[in-house]
Amino acid sequence: MDASTGPVDRRRTFAIISHPDAGKTTLTEKLLLMGGAIQLAGEVKGKRDRRQTRSDWMGIERERGISVVTSVMTFEYGGRIFNLLDTPGHEDFSEDTYRTLTAVDSAVMVIDAAKGIEDRTRKLFEVCRLRDIPIVTFVNKLDRETRDPFDLLDEIEKVLALDTVPMTWPIGRGRDFAGTYDIIARTVRRIDTDDAVIPVSGPNDPQIDGLTTPEAVASFREEMELIEGAGNGFDTDSFRQGHLTPVYFGSALRNFGVHDLIDALAAFAPSPRPQQAEGRVVEPTEEKMSGFVFKIQANMDPNHRDRIAFLRVCSGKLQRGMKAKLVRTGKPIPLSSPQFFFAQDRLLADEAFAGDVVGIPNHGTLRIGDTLTEGENLVFRGVPSFAPEILRRIRLQDPMKAKKLKEALQQMAEEGVVQVFLPQDGSPAIIGVVGALQLDVLKERMQVEYGLPIDFEPSRFTVCRWVTGTDKDALNMFVERHRSSMASDLDGAPVFMAPSAFELRYELDRAPTITASEIKDYQ
Ligand code: G4P
Repeated sequence: MDASTGPVDRRRTFAIISHPDAGKTTLTEKLLLMGGAIQLAGEVKGKRDRRQTRSDWMGIERERGISVVTSVMTFEYGGRIFNLLDTPGHEDFSEDTYRTLTAVDSAVMVIDAAKGIEDRTRKLFEVCRLRDIPIVTFVNKLDRETRDPFDLLDEIEKVLALDTVPMTWPIGRGRDFAGTYDIIARTVRRIDTDDAVIPVSGPNDPQIDGLTTPEAVASFREEMELIEGAGNGFDTDSFRQGHLTPVYFGSALRNFGVHDLIDALAAFAPSPRPQQAEGRVVEPTEEKMSGFVFKIQANMDPNHRDRIAFLRVCSGKLQRGMKAKLVRTGKPIPLSSPQFFFAQDRLLADEAFAGDVVGIPNHGTLRIGDTLTEGENLVFRGVPSFAPEILRRIRLQDPMKAKKLKEALQQMAEEGVVQVFLPQDGSPAIIGVVGALQLDVLKERMQVEYGLPIDFEPSRFTVCRWVTGTDKDALNMFVERHRSSMASDLDGAPVFMAPSAFELRYELDRAPTITASEIKDYQ
């Protein structure tokens, strides 16, 4: 690496998107191993037990074998610093995943070679597309029977409307799979020796003959003729604009092709990108520190009832001990112990740069969507909230604890665990979630953390939308006319609730100047 490369250029902040079971966890492990992060965590002896408890702090997570939390892992490889933002695998926590994708500069899309593009991959891809996040594709499980690779590329192009450029190509498939051929470098990587590559003169090099069956080698050569004939070269600009994806083939389980992937991220994936704030774009190289909170995590350590706000640094240098301004309130907050995460461990972060994600312990000061700066009144936009698909009323087993419930719900809403809507007619709060499992998490946390046993009751509403309008009088009239169906969210924004999608549409059709939205940026 060029010694003059600055801290921003060295960084790659990315996430892995995939359908459950495609191999995201296996690939993450292999990437961390390669970056030494797992070893590093393992070296911190004596903390082992604490680490284990921490990683599965919550009963639900343990019981169901799912990862509820979103975390970040930092590792170094080839002179670059990688920040891998993990996302929950379960669909019910998709909101968390979407918010995490606002904090990355690129993504790796993992596809099961036998299955192709699956439902959740498509949805996550669409979120990436909204922000033009460049995607590197990893076709996984090449050690098994797979679909025809051309079919897979075709499917990516058709279903996702994304151009593909194969960067490597499999030699043989399933039982005959011998390794991959690097189309640009003209090298072969054998399945049994991932860390070494063999230089060859091209697909017809006799060294390839002995690697697998003659039929598989013949097919490989035919396929390479087609690829080279098509002449679709890789174009960095097109990739960075999100129009084109380089495709790599491998097997996460066999730790094969993972070097190709990480080298690709180092070579092509963008370093921290400029970020849109209200009124101006913030360049990562600006001197003053700025960043936004995209995730709040409670109880990362059961011994300390702390809340960690995950801040994506967008510019400048965050230094331990500095005071930052919380733009929402205008108040200074001291950053006395910002943290980095290494696999399951955390370390104090003395300094962090654009692209880094630091955890900031706090006791409820920070909310999702908050902007921190070194003084400027910047507001970063685009950490979204999604209209819930499930609305419920909460039944408190001990009615004397109503005040405590209100406080607890406010905190859960600030963390993004649930959304809380306060009906304007003064009736009890309604909570909203995107996935049913979030209700279980809420119930458990209310019990464990606040000593509040709760149950849920159906609400007479099933759908809701944020409503806005440029014609203030018309908006006020709408709110007035629907007073018994209106609520305010955490920020006081008006929300219209309806018993069914039909009634929602019916009322909105009658109010053409009102804009109803399923997504709202955090304030
Ligand atoms: P996910 O996080 O995307 O849900 O997937 P995960 O890595 O957990 O992988 C899902 C299953 O696929 C696991 O098997 C894993 O071992 C397997 N797998 C991942 N990569 C490869 C690969 O390259 N080749 C093959 N053949 N299998 C792969 P499992 O039986 O469900 O779990 P486990 O008992 O192996 O942990």
